[in-house]
Amino acid sequence: MLRRPRRNRSTAAIRAMAHETHLSAEHLIFPLFVLDGQGIQSEIKSLPGIYRFSPELLLREIESCMELGLTNFILFPAVADALKDTTATYSYHPDNFYLKVARDIKKRFPECCLISDVAMDPYSSDGHDGLVRDGAIVNDDTLPILAQMSIAQAEAGFDMLGPSDMMDGRVGYMRQALDEAGFTNTGILAYTAKYASAFYGPFRDALDSAPKSGDKKTYQMNPANKREALLEAELDTAEGADMLMVKPALHYLDVIALLKEKSNLPIAAYHVSGECAMLTAACRNGWLDYSRAMPETLLSIRRAGADVILTYFAKDFAKMVRYL
Ligand code: PBG
Repeated sequence: MLRRPRRNRSTAAIRAMAHETHLSAEHLIFPLFVLDGQGIQSEIKSLPGIYRFSPELLLREIESCMELGLTNFILFPAVADALKDTTATYSYHPDNFYLKVARDIKKRFPECCLISDVAMDPYSSDGHDGLVRDGAIVNDDTLPILAQMSIAQAEAGFDMLGPSDMMDGRVGYMRQALDEAGFTNTGILAYTAKYASAFYGPFRDALDSAPKSGDKKTYQMNPANKREALLEAELDTAEGADMLMVKPALHYLDVIALLKEKSNLPIAAYHVSGECAMLTAACRNGWLDYSRAMPETLLSIRRAGADVILTYFAKDFAKMVRYL
């Protein structure tokens, strides 16, 4: 036999030279949930090991992540029902605790990359990402709300904004509003191909943000579609997005590979709550070995083409490589 692929697998040193896909903490973004109050750290039942933190404890959590070499965070607010309304006014209210904690984070850790969530659902009494009128999610009247939210977040010091709402034209609308307000350096991480997925369950538990009626199928993408992701990518790119995201990740590796091939922008993949919860459940049952299955999972997302991965396992991974 002339060709024997096993020769390149024969020792650890040779395997290391032939190693194709690299993964380290710098490729990861850690999603964090913040709620108002003091001294609160409450675990998300459907996503064990992940917590909602009150601002002070959140800062401590970020500090411990930074010590592990984890520098990238995306922040989501758990808002009290009493503060929610149909037009998500709390999202840009001057007393908003989410904006306040963002200021504190960037003051204390200016070197971190802090990413926001732009969508109405955490603040909406309807639990939808856009404005609800007569049972329908209206697109164009949602855009000014998202723009107002974006400016408030840029003012608070977020490095990048993450529109997760899937309204048409929102990236361009936000970009223009940000530029006009002088925030030309605030980036946009666009949720480009965000699917109407069953795997967001634990996240909606964390924020208590499930839609009060209906589903999100009129704005999030049909899981059956792949070419449509190219259309979304084309639009977000033309409208000024700095990075494109595919979400979820594991069940959409083909879409990640496609966008990586077709786009010149960095590609992010959101390894969503339900995808993480599945693995956590199997590992906690003793059916899979977390120390091997978790890094293999993240590696598969990188191998498919993701430059960065948003994952609830980011801190565990950073710990694992640090203490290997
Ligand atoms: C909503 C939003 C969702 C997630 C991030 N932003 C859920 C949804 O669309 O209902 C899900 C993330 C996850 O499941 O980890 N704007």
